[in-house]
Amino acid sequence: MCGIICYVGKQPALPVLLEGLKRLEYRGYDSSGIALLEDEQIRRFRAVGKIRELETGLIEWTSDAKTGIGHTRWATHGKPCVENAHPHSDCAGEIFVIHNGIIENYLALKQELITAGHRFLSETDTEVVAHLIEEACREHADLEEAVTRALARVRGTFGLAVLSTRHANSIIIARRSSPMILGISDSGTFAASDVSALVAHTKQVVYLQDDDLAVLTPDGYRITNLHAPAEVNRQEQTVDWDVDAAEKQGFEHFMLKEIHEQPEAVRNAMRGRLVPSEGISVLGGLAGVREQFLRMEQLILVSCGTSFYAAMLGRYILEFCTDFRVEVDVASEFRYRRLNLRDNTVVLAISQSGETADTLAAIREAKRKGALVLGLVNVVGSNIARETDAGIYNHAGPEIGVASTKAFVSQLTILYLLTLYLARHQHMSVTDGQEFIRELESIPDKIEQILAKSAQIQQVARRYAQFRDFMYIGRKFNYPIALEGALKLKEISYLHAEAYAAGEMKHGPIALINPDFPSVCLATQDSTYDKMMANIQEIKARCGRTIVVGTEGDAQLPALCDDFIGVPASSELFAPLLTVIPLQLLAYYIALENGCEIDQPRNLAKSVTVE
Ligand code: G6P
Repeated sequence: MCGIICYVGKQPALPVLLEGLKRLEYRGYDSSGIALLEDEQIRRFRAVGKIRELETGLIEWTSDAKTGIGHTRWATHGKPCVENAHPHSDCAGEIFVIHNGIIENYLALKQELITAGHRFLSETDTEVVAHLIEEACREHADLEEAVTRALARVRGTFGLAVLSTRHANSIIIARRSSPMILGISDSGTFAASDVSALVAHTKQVVYLQDDDLAVLTPDGYRITNLHAPAEVNRQEQTVDWDVDAAEKQGFEHFMLKEIHEQPEAVRNAMRGRLVPSEGISVLGGLAGVREQFLRMEQLILVSCGTSFYAAMLGRYILEFCTDFRVEVDVASEFRYRRLNLRDNTVVLAISQSGETADTLAAIREAKRKGALVLGLVNVVGSNIARETDAGIYNHAGPEIGVASTKAFVSQLTILYLLTLYLARHQHMSVTDGQEFIRELESIPDKIEQILAKSAQIQQVARRYAQFRDFMYIGRKFNYPIALEGALKLKEISYLHAEAYAAGEMKHGPIALINPDFPSVCLATQDSTYDKMMANIQEIKARCGRTIVVGTEGDAQLPALCDDFIGVPASSELFAPLLTVIPLQLLAYYIALENGCEIDQPRNLAKSVTVE
């Protein structure tokens, strides 16, 4: 997804922008660009591909400019090419714009501007903003006023920055439904779409709110509103992420580092939220809506991608432990249904980034229909966090790898906390609550034991890396994990992976089984063990290879399957927190064997802010 970094201050801007753009790489992008303001002139450079392409192109550049803007683009309107990369400029080359989001009415505006004599050089929606500002400047000499007027004509979402020769030593920033954060330091003023682009320079930040317009200067900033010229105050905050948290810390990839951070992610999700003596969980973020929440007649979990599989498991565990009626829906489909929500419906949106456009659209629809809307979000201050009535934060720290791992395990952990929260208000006894907490608290150590087997899992991955097709099967609590395991493999190694509820095998997918189509089977010792065993036999009978994730010490499976990966014993309710770990590692090592670009897989984005 697109990323923005801006700087105006006392240092040369170019290195600041390049460094910031590198920190934004994890969001997924296909091209990048910068513009620098120096001696009343703006110089721009753009490149397709990685930031290193941009750097290579800039090798000959020397610049003392102390004001500049930088952008990573993830194509939405027009293919990835230099012409479509940001910054985009007006006809005169005096106004340069970088933009995250989508201008929905750009075609009509573009037509109008072309009729008025403007010349367009890209296929993007963003370019209309530069020309709209140019047009507005004809009537209003003041750039700030022109930006305000231009944005009044725009329908859609934007986090944007404007650099102009008309406004020396300053940058104008505006946002609507797309994050923008200001960074304040002695060496200058920054703006970025993501706090990770700022933390190397400053921890003092200001989260802009919708329709804020900020003017950055070397000594600070001034914020007004797009609808009212009066200055507004936004609280400065200190971020608790440091640069280290956003770096790989010795791991070859962010994804591997994040897989290894999972014991900590589980602990962080639980921290301060369990009362073992009473067998309860305390979720402070829900305190304000507690009565309404407990009165609910229906709970709907909405989310996308990996977060959707967390929701699927959420339904299993909530239904298992409580009497609530629970539904799940893919956020992008939610709005297409003729939603006949019961009274007292609660919709819980699950989103790592808190910015996923489909999930945002789903919660807006749910609100319109009168539901209480809650969020389970990792990114503090994100759109979903702000638009929900109440919620729970993951506290999982930044997740940089595009393929979600620790955020998923953190989401699951919080869904267990939520289950306990609700179940203890129904029939779950204090002793069962205490046992629930004991099981949950034992998970981080058990994950560590599985991580200690990474070398064995890497060996298995080496044996299977040349296969092109995989089947993943599981039942009950392990079914969503089979789906998630297959998604991990698809995302980072581009291999074909199908996931099925194991009972569905016989209804079609079994036709695919042959020696070149291995199956990954989740068969922990639980209530579905015998049936999983039968599925594994069926695969073996058709000469299919099997990798089985089962319970350590299993006496039968290692002899039956081709490769066995054991996880520590647990009750079946909690097994998913363990069985997912070998599947993440398997996907990681298969991708590594195949030389894939693990942290930024092709075509994928970390934060998908388009519908
Ligand atoms: C993208 C990411 C996935 C993620 C999904 C939902 O597709 O690549 O890893 O699961 O979005 O994201 P969210 O931030 O809402 O959890």
